Amino acid sequence: MENILQKLEEEKVFKDPVHRYIHVRDQLIWELIGTKEFQRLRRIRQLGTTFMTFHGAEHSRFNHSLGVYEITRRIIDIFQGRPHWDDKERLLCLCAALLHDVGHGPFSHSFEKVFGSDHEEWTRQIILGNTEVNAVLARVDKSFPQKVADVIEKTYSNKLVVSLISSQIDADRMDYLQRDAYYTGVSYGHFDMERILRVMRPTEDQVVIKQSGMHAVEDYIMSRYQMYWQVYFHPVTRSAEVILSKILQRTKELYKQGYQFKHEPIHFYSLFNEKMSLDDYLRLDEAITMYYFQIWQEEDDSILRDLCGRFLNRRLFQYVEFNPNQHMNDWPMLQQLFKEADIDPTYYLVIDSSSDLPYDFYRPGEEEERLPIHLLLPNGKIRELSRESDVVEAISGKKRTDHKLYFPQDLLEDETSHKEVKRKIRDILEK
Ligand code: NI
Repeated sequence: MENILQKLEEEKVFKDPVHRYIHVRDQLIWELIGTKEFQRLRRIRQLGTTFMTFHGAEHSRFNHSLGVYEITRRIIDIFQGRPHWDDKERLLCLCAALLHDVGHGPFSHSFEKVFGSDHEEWTRQIILGNTEVNAVLARVDKSFPQKVADVIEKTYSNKLVVSLISSQIDADRMDYLQRDAYYTGVSYGHFDMERILRVMRPTEDQVVIKQSGMHAVEDYIMSRYQMYWQVYFHPVTRSAEVILSKILQRTKELYKQGYQFKHEPIHFYSLFNEKMSLDDYLRLDEAITMYYFQIWQEEDDSILRDLCGRFLNRRLFQYVEFNPNQHMNDWPMLQQLFKEADIDPTYYLVIDSSSDLPYDFYRPGEEEERLPIHLLLPNGKIRELSRESDVVEAISGKKRTDHKLYFPQDLLEDETSHKEVKRKIRDILEK
């Protein structure tokens, strides 16, 4: 067995459309990439159902994870020899960057919503449990897997290391914004990462940005803001996600009722029973999920059959704006009318809400999700970004929420049955 801490005899490179090349120089990183838990990420898309809207968005979590690793590697190269940077943390940072999303499952959002699973908990189990990833990490030393898990969970004692992987300007976000922009083909999402990397400086407890790089950071924040509303929360993508969640909800319900599936969904049984083992979880991927959707199109249950056909053939739900304050009165009536029209509102009338906070500063007493961005002023003082930047101040702390109501327009327009009720429903939805 090779010494896990040694450098590779020859550097390995992966061609990458976003960062051009991804450089691997360490035996440890090379072996982690080769584990089956990491390779599984090739079969999980980075952006879930976004490919239904932007057909290029087929890139995987494998791509993204390598990208986050590469950005972290470049930052560390820049930090080398600077005060506060301890090069003994180098491999730990690289491992945490590479593995930060290793627990993601197929269509994470929908699965987590319907089955209450949690990718962060699975990440932890993959790193600490009986896996190939754990076996590789443990060769560094026995406490190393726990350290990697601590960095990802933000509990590691060296906060500088944590902030590299998880802050409002970390390697994770810098990779996914550029990568998702590239694969969707949109023109937002671009910013000058090279510039940002050059002005990053290590301090005792976090990464800071030299003030001269402030405008590049403003650009980055704006690109994130735009990506959320133009790509991540695109209403058509959400429509596909609504259908996907309803398929899972329907199969779970049928299973509970003792429905006899023509083709038993054995890969889902432990999920339905809420006792999924790590091995069961690792067997799930998007290929398996899509396989079941394909064969469920021939099931006897008309709802399951219809929803699967919609997902696979992209016959998505239509949507209208839904303001909870204004339209909540219509809600019980709409549900009643759907029932009268023989369209089950549990599966065919869905309110979906999305919300995003483009940038936030730390407010004492409130749970902050990720560390705010700090600038290093020429006099050596450190200041939070929104106090220096008018552009960032304007959008700081402003949470935007969007509610939409999803429904099958084609069923409502089919006037072969329940003509009057369907007209009434359409009148309400169109007003
Ligand atoms: Ni990530």
